Amino acid sequence: MIRKCLFPAAGYGTRFLPATKAIPKEMLPILNKPLIQYGVEEAIEAGIKTMAIITGRGKRAIEDHFDISYELEHQIKGTSKEYLLNEIRSLVESCVFTYTRQREMRGLGHAVLTGEPLIGNEPFAVLLADDLCEGESVGVLKQMVELYRKYRCSIVAVMEVEGDSISKYGVVEAKPLEEGVYVVSDMVEKPEPAEAPSNLAIIGRYILTPDIFEILQNTPPGKNKEIQLTDAIRTQAKNGMVIAYRFRGKRFDCGSVEGFVEATNYFYNKNLVN
Ligand code: UTP
Repeated sequence: MIRKCLFPAAGYGTRFLPATKAIPKEMLPILNKPLIQYGVEEAIEAGIKTMAIITGRGKRAIEDHFDISYELEHQIKGTSKEYLLNEIRSLVESCVFTYTRQREMRGLGHAVLTGEPLIGNEPFAVLLADDLCEGESVGVLKQMVELYRKYRCSIVAVMEVEGDSISKYGVVEAKPLEEGVYVVSDMVEKPEPAEAPSNLAIIGRYILTPDIFEILQNTPPGKNKEIQLTDAIRTQAKNGMVIAYRFRGKRFDCGSVEGFVEATNYFYNKNLVN
């Protein structure tokens, strides 16, 4: 039912300069795998086969990553190193990758709008690869796709955040509906801690119904003169229904150096145990 996943990956990744001067942030690896590959694997687990990636200038490494590298394949074929490429090779063969470029970085909402020709008129997932998630028993996107079957409306993934750091996120005002599920009545982007309507912060996983595109077209630039996805989802919430879903699992903010290091340590230690 959810067949496509949009990956906005056009941002400059300034928090990782100088590393991101020539390399997309989404290609930075946690252990030996780039962030965006974790995201694609999560989408595949959710039953999604089309990966629609919003890129920008200097992001060609993403397209090369999800392609065959003839020289490399030729070089290691038949050697003891061939297994190192097996995982990415079968991933590339199991889905379709489509791309479009966002020419001007006018915010996450604008990046999603840029993806309209890749998505068309159907509900879709959005995954921000710099939010690395590990689901408790199934992946976060799969949990959300299952919830979409029941409610058939836009869904935002949220997590509980304590203290002042709530002001780094979009925050929902919401009423409980069932365990871990809330109906959203309002949303605020990066509120002052005292003005946050709840401690439920939006993270980089969404299911969106396609009316979001028309709403985005009519959404004026908000905070930082960017078209905010939060503002458009807020309009959906006011006109109909939007759900906030407190996902089961962990999330690492790999868009920040601190979160990136935390994720690296977590996956490294986990691999040692397994
Ligand atoms: P961020 O603000 O976290 O990413 O945007 P950034 O701008 O790349 O990083 P910093 O803040 O400069 O370090 C969240 C997501 O939205 C995408 C980014 O690529 C990231 O995945 N994005 C943001 C776009 O695709 N286009 C935009 O215009 C803005």
